[in-house]
Amino acid sequence: MMQTVLALETSCDETAAAVVQFKAGKFQILANCIASQAAEHAQWGGVVPEIASRRHLESMPFLVDKALRNSDIGFKQINAIAATVTPGLTGALLVGSITARTLAKLHEIPFLGINHLEGHLSSSFLSENPPIPPYLALLVSGGHTELIHVERNLIYRRVGQSHDDAAGEAFDKVARLLGLSYPGGPSIERIGINGDPKRFPFPKGRVSRPEGGFYPYDFSFSGLKTAVLRKIQKLELLKDKLPLADLAASFEQVVAEVLVERSLKYALDNGIKSLVMVGGVAANNRLRKMMSEEASKKSVAVHIAPKAFCTDNAAMIGTAALLRLNSGTSPSSIELGVSARFQLDHSDLLYQVDAPF
Ligand code: KG4
Ligand code: ZN
Repeated sequence: MMQTVLALETSCDETAAAVVQFKAGKFQILANCIASQAAEHAQWGGVVPEIASRRHLESMPFLVDKALRNSDIGFKQINAIAATVTPGLTGALLVGSITARTLAKLHEIPFLGINHLEGHLSSSFLSENPPIPPYLALLVSGGHTELIHVERNLIYRRVGQSHDDAAGEAFDKVARLLGLSYPGGPSIERIGINGDPKRFPFPKGRVSRPEGGFYPYDFSFSGLKTAVLRKIQKLELLKDKLPLADLAASFEQVVAEVLVERSLKYALDNGIKSLVMVGGVAANNRLRKMMSEEASKKSVAVHIAPKAFCTDNAAMIGTAALLRLNSGTSPSSIELGVSARFQLDHSDLLYQVDAPF
């Protein structure tokens, strides 16, 4: 059976529209259009919600038009219109949601509200060897750092998380400390490429258990950020030029080590043979290489989303919508709104007659 969806993504600072098709057991991206606002937000050192909403509004009509033209698909051929409805900036989410619901109503096509995190997780199906459950997913983005045990498609159990900053947030904050531009991940990667990752042994943040010991699969990145700050302050006292490349590489190294070690520990402790890595931070080359090498030593298969589908895009939202359609999920209520937060493991509620928000 062939299914085609138009998908919209506006949860943060990328306006995106895509047309994705499921045909002969494969996901095919017919169009994947993105208008990034990152350069504009960079002037302010981070995402300004009001600017994000306004830019989404301005770009959306052009992106929908472009996605349909690039894919040569008309509304008659579309089985569902999907949009990210949670989590994210509410004003930003509303733009994609209202656009999708209006088009759905106008053309009498089912509407599917998608959880952004389910979108990220679905991006692994766009890799060359899609994962087959059960698998462990490491979701590392600007807002989330989570280990998710996926026993069956679309059934999620969170087994690890960051207790403070998300990994991407740590990249963004440390980039700012180093005087590098937003978004921090690509800036740190660019400058750290020739750096010495062993020069500064930054600490691997751990989360203590009240009863003693540590949570083995959880993360903490705020202490690391402080350690980088202290190191910068010490180096500045010496009045030398900051060794930016070594600082960036050493920071990247410890983040990658922590993510790889704890993910593999969970996989090995629980007999999981397959590991998925998705989200903006999964675009990081040092992390991709380390994860592939270490997992292969432990005979764990790794499925990493292609780089273009790690950072926010609508193709992953379309893929999630197709997985939902294939699983027989009912469409969302046209009255489903948006929410800044919503638990991933409650995503089934997005397809109930009584919308949860
Ligand atoms: O998934 P994403 O585009 O948006 C969220 O859902 O948050 O992730 C954005 C985050 C930002 O914090 C950004 O600095 C980080 O992903 N990021 C990277 C890289 N590219 C983006 N971090 C490390 N290395 C990269 N190459
Ligand atoms: Zn994202």
